[in-house]
Amino acid sequence: MHKTMDFIKSKINMEPKVGIILGSGLGDFADTLEEAVSILYSEIPGFHQSTVVGHSGELVFGYKEGVPMVCMKGRIHYYEGISMDQVVFPTKVLCALGIETLIVTNAAGGVNEEFKPGDLMLIRDHINFAGINPLIGPNDEKDGPRFPDMTYTYDKDHLEMAKRVADTSGLGLQEGVYMYFTGPSYETPAEIKMARILGADAVGMSTVPEAIIANHRGVKVLGISCITNMAAGILETPLDHSEVTEVSKMVRESFIAFVTNCIKELGNERN
Ligand code: HPA
Repeated sequence: MHKTMDFIKSKINMEPKVGIILGSGLGDFADTLEEAVSILYSEIPGFHQSTVVGHSGELVFGYKEGVPMVCMKGRIHYYEGISMDQVVFPTKVLCALGIETLIVTNAAGGVNEEFKPGDLMLIRDHINFAGINPLIGPNDEKDGPRFPDMTYTYDKDHLEMAKRVADTSGLGLQEGVYMYFTGPSYETPAEIKMARILGADAVGMSTVPEAIIANHRGVKVLGISCITNMAAGILETPLDHSEVTEVSKMVRESFIAFVTNCIKELGNERN
């Protein structure tokens, strides 16, 4: 971690206050930062490079609405065959850099039948269905408690703020529970039926490990899912990753506008 922090600090001269992890097809947001400085994951000691189509791998530092921030353009998933420690290492780095808020974004399958592809969903809560937790292992109390509370993992004030932002910009925004499966196979129709019975509104293969780490470290989390498809068995058509990247490209403009307005609000709150 020391080596990583020293390397990153040698490349930047700002202290990011907001971090954002950009999900499948949502990486374009990073290109809108001002005074951007980009560092490839492949150059950063300890970083694993994402292998997924639609995920480039770079950390982009810069300013949005005057707020100093860092974007993870491309995330790393457990299904890539690496350890959970490697999956959450970049999130630990972002937290160590001193961010106060982590915005986690993802592409997700809609389980709630009132959703439609292209909808954005605020994550109110999650269900960790992956059978693994990134905090397994020795705990350093300096990072956070051994048994962190998860009642407000998705910060209540941030949720309210995001809803206000959506209202004022006329954006229809869904809200719900995100359920984490490891993937990489999509869920079966029976698993989706189970997910709905258990209270899920959307399913996906990311986000929960990063949210757990941020919450452990006292960093506030705002979660946004882009519903790229209806989950398995809801429609007759089989699922395909190209649909995921295409739909997230379609919502590019409204996603960037929404996230930008949320960051502006976060900046106002800090002042
Ligand atoms: N399931 C899991 N992950 C996903 C999906 C899905 O239907 N769509 C986008 N990511």
